[in-house]
Amino acid sequence: MNLVEPDRVHRRVYTDADIFDREITNIFERSWIYAGHATQIPVEGDYVAFLAGRQPMLLVRGQEGAIHALYNRCPHRGAKLCDLHQGNTGGLFTCSYHAWQFGLDGQVRAIPAPSGYAGTRFSLDDASSHMRRAARVEAYRGFVFVSLSAEGPSLYDFLGGGRAAFDDMCDRAPDGEVEVVATCFRVVQRSNWKLFLENQLDALHPSITHISPAKAASEVEREYEAQTGVAAPDYYKYFSALAVPLSKWDSLEARGFEHGHCLLGGYLGLRPQDRDTLEYEAIMATRYGAEAAEEILSRDVHHMLIYPCLSVQPALAQLRAVRPLGPDKTLTELWHFRLKGAPEPIYRRSLAYFNLINSPSTMVNADDLTNFWRCQQGLESDGGDWVSFHRNAGQEITADGVTRSNTGLSEMPMRHMFRAWSIYMDRPER
Ligand code: FES
Ligand code: FE2
Repeated sequence: MNLVEPDRVHRRVYTDADIFDREITNIFERSWIYAGHATQIPVEGDYVAFLAGRQPMLLVRGQEGAIHALYNRCPHRGAKLCDLHQGNTGGLFTCSYHAWQFGLDGQVRAIPAPSGYAGTRFSLDDASSHMRRAARVEAYRGFVFVSLSAEGPSLYDFLGGGRAAFDDMCDRAPDGEVEVVATCFRVVQRSNWKLFLENQLDALHPSITHISPAKAASEVEREYEAQTGVAAPDYYKYFSALAVPLSKWDSLEARGFEHGHCLLGGYLGLRPQDRDTLEYEAIMATRYGAEAAEEILSRDVHHMLIYPCLSVQPALAQLRAVRPLGPDKTLTELWHFRLKGAPEPIYRRSLAYFNLINSPSTMVNADDLTNFWRCQQGLESDGGDWVSFHRNAGQEITADGVTRSNTGLSEMPMRHMFRAWSIYMDRPER
């Protein structure tokens, strides 16, 4: 039975344990997966732990600035080497069980009682004595990805049109690069990973799902302005912008790129004319020249999805990494960044969005999480078999490898992701 049709998909793709296993094997363990940002591990011996598919991995700063990606597993008897999300291991990884030691590149350095191995077939030179390395680790503008497969396109080619997310975020920094804020929100959602990605580019839902905080913020904004005679602080707009009429969403454009990446053009231009913004824009013009600065500041990527593992909001300097844990369980990690060389108030703006909209405890994200959970419960029932992605089906136009929707309300991004999904899932087993 064909579970994915051009305009609808069978509910089993969200609920079936065997399909989930195949997704992990065929998609997450064969694609480029976001590991972390290079500024998370600035010092030799720094590491961060992350999941690539089912694999607990470590991203490590080695000697002379090298970055290594290693399986977080001791080759002796299999113990996980690092239990923390991040830390500094010093010059060596030392296993807590029997103290086998490994260099930052994963090479075994010392084992206790070495004479006991004389006459056995164990050898320190054997690959199985070292921590296993990810097949590939590559970075684009400081954003580090790993692939557990030696085959497939380079990271640069894989990202393709999706590179715009990282270019946009970094170019907005007067120094041309960003720095991670070394802490994140971790949210475990009781729903399938695809529901999260679909929602990021679902322009129909904000004025419905998020209407109560959006309306309340609009009212307070009006009162504030009436009472003070000045515009309300920007962060009210993060909420009130969600209440724009559907005709506004309709005027946007979604784009689909090769490998399943998609973009929604932005509604949050975020170019108020307050003193802080003007000071920042003046710094940008000095660094880049007026014309180039204007081109950068007028970009309007609201969301870019790097399929299957990342949702990036470049203008707000944040991203969410997606780590599936089960058919009905997904971990997302929310990270945000500082634009190097930008004044502090510009950072405070990203932080406000991070805390007020994307954090798990806000009135916005909490409503999304409820919807995902409701969808998962409905999809696990026998109340129906198909999920509809019919809106504006057949109306998108593909040219030069880019698919463009005719309206921001189109369900094109969902159809686009499922086209990519089918290609990944149909790949022959390795
Ligand atoms: Fe790591 Fe024994 S399991 S040293
Ligand atoms: Fe939402």
